[in-house]
Amino acid sequence: MAEVALSRGARMADQHFHEDQRPVIEFNHHSREYRDHWREVSRDNLTRCPVAWTEEHGGFWLVSGYAPLTQAIRDDAAFSSYHDPTGDVNGYQGIMIPPFPRYPIPIELDPPEFFTYRRLLNPHFSPESSKNWEPYVRATTADILDRVCAAGEMDLVLDLANPVPASVTLKLLGLPLDDWAEFAATIHEMTYTTPGTAEFARAATGMGRITETVRRTVDERRVEPADDLISHLVRATVDGAPVDDDRLHSMITLVLAGGVDTTTSLLANALYWLHRHPRQRQRLIDDPALIPTAADEFLRYFAPVQMLARTATRDVVLGGQEIRAGERVMLSFAAANQDPEVFSDPDTLDLARFPNRHVAFGAGIHRCLGAHLARVEFCVILEEVLARIPDYQVDESAAKRYPSIAAANGYITMPATFTPSRPGRIPHPGKSEI
Ligand code: HEM
Repeated sequence: MAEVALSRGARMADQHFHEDQRPVIEFNHHSREYRDHWREVSRDNLTRCPVAWTEEHGGFWLVSGYAPLTQAIRDDAAFSSYHDPTGDVNGYQGIMIPPFPRYPIPIELDPPEFFTYRRLLNPHFSPESSKNWEPYVRATTADILDRVCAAGEMDLVLDLANPVPASVTLKLLGLPLDDWAEFAATIHEMTYTTPGTAEFARAATGMGRITETVRRTVDERRVEPADDLISHLVRATVDGAPVDDDRLHSMITLVLAGGVDTTTSLLANALYWLHRHPRQRQRLIDDPALIPTAADEFLRYFAPVQMLARTATRDVVLGGQEIRAGERVMLSFAAANQDPEVFSDPDTLDLARFPNRHVAFGAGIHRCLGAHLARVEFCVILEEVLARIPDYQVDESAAKRYPSIAAANGYITMPATFTPSRPGRIPHPGKSEI
């Protein structure tokens, strides 16, 4: 696209205006630079151009402002999530830039089809159903802490923040728990490796095994149902017929992917921040009832899912910019969560911030299915950590973030040490009201 460079003073030096007057910025969410400076980049975009165009990845609009983002995400008729990988329907490319090779259901569907599949999942993720997972999350966390407490060292990501959400997700779905370590490692690896590397190839092989296990479990549940989500889904009907295998596998894989590295990333960022802010950590130790409120602030501040995309279905004005039908639109939850129009003092992580209208779980019809479950997991794991290893210290030089945070803003590894203690399965009373 031809561009006309405009001189707008030093602060605008790297911003251009396209010949049709759209503001053009340099922005690549997969870059190392974005990973290292995402907060500053988001703040800058928010201040200078809350809706701007970038030429990266074939060109897309980046929406940073809270008002235009919530307008777009709630207007699912004008901003589609649909993915048409074969190009037979409308060529839309779903919610990832670049797009996923396959389309996960229901996240890459639009109404009315979307509701058909989301309704099948909703009851299993209600506040009540999610709350029922609390004892399991607590026992699993306690087990892990029992195994490491005498040694006085553990990896907060690899030993805790990764396996607990993975094991909850597998159990909820009805997938074999014996495989949790492999599942957790594979999905974790898929999130941060780059196609073409040996790590990616290993993760892809692991995903192949996961898909096989999903297929086998679906077949088994058809013959012998159990009390799990896969059994519910194989019995479900759409227009009087069972859900076809492709769609079934797609829904299961989406729940797996959604349930694993997102909560892991939230926990990892929170644990690291609390390591760096001991007085704030003490505040949560003294008052665990504050943890659920703090959870929302960690979500706002770190935005584990930084951004997701849509496709404009018609010409539409957003934040004063004219978006054309067919153009890609990226919604930055990370930036909108810092919008000073909505959040006072947005750069401060305030554990008691309330109200907190963050968009870390999205908004509108696709709002995160697992939001309640993620909260239960986060709050219980954090309570147990603060009760059992309250003086943990992260080895900052060994902690490693994901090379790109476009898929999840998280850590690969986070070694930590703490005062050794004896294993004691004294479950924390769980004072917080999740
Ligand atoms: C801190 C944890 C989490 C964060 C930050 C997060 C974030 C999000 C966001 C931003 C969306 C909106 C997608 C869109 O608008 O296109 C979403 C959707 C979704 N999430 Fe989560 N998520 C988390 C945990 C979970 C968990 C634990 C599960 C399941 C076990 C899950 C499953 C899903 C599914 C299935 C969708 C698609 C919903 C739909 O399209 O209707 N998520 N999540």
